[in-house]
Amino acid sequence: MRSAGGEPTTSRRRLFQIALWACQGALGLLVGVPAVGFLLDPLRRRDLDEPWLSAGAIDRVPEGEPHPLRLESRRRDGYVERSVTSTVWILRDGDRALAFSGACTHLGCNIAWNPSTGEFECPCHGGRFSRAGEVLGGPPRRPLDRFETRTVDGALEIRRIRT
Ligand code: FES
Repeated sequence: MRSAGGEPTTSRRRLFQIALWACQGALGLLVGVPAVGFLLDPLRRRDLDEPWLSAGAIDRVPEGEPHPLRLESRRRDGYVERSVTSTVWILRDGDRALAFSGACTHLGCNIAWNPSTGEFECPCHGGRFSRAGEVLGGPPRRPLDRFETRTVDGALEIRRIRT
């Protein structure tokens, strides 16, 4: 409807205004939702998929005594991705292996295997762990962190267990 002077009536003007707002809203959603998803995606994916890391041929790990291996990995935490070198202790039995973190569960010092006592020892505060990673003494309250292991075509692979 038009007024006597040919101008659109108030209701028609209001309809155009609502349609314009609806278009602006749709355009905002079209741009905003993917943008917010893109920004939040790294936070959502924080270490969800721990990769298997190759530790080389399992034959190079001696049997019977825990043996240290240095592993390089990429750690992603939110937007930050960094290279991490860590020591993993391997206790091999044929084609099977147990793998422990080399970090003491008290405050993170590097543990070492003492063959004369048959224990892992922490030099910082005297923490002691069995060859299976259980706490034997000192301030640590929980066992050494374990890794998943598997052998693929003679190669040992290790994966961090998510907690
Ligand atoms: S850091 Fe190992 S006992 Fe404290």
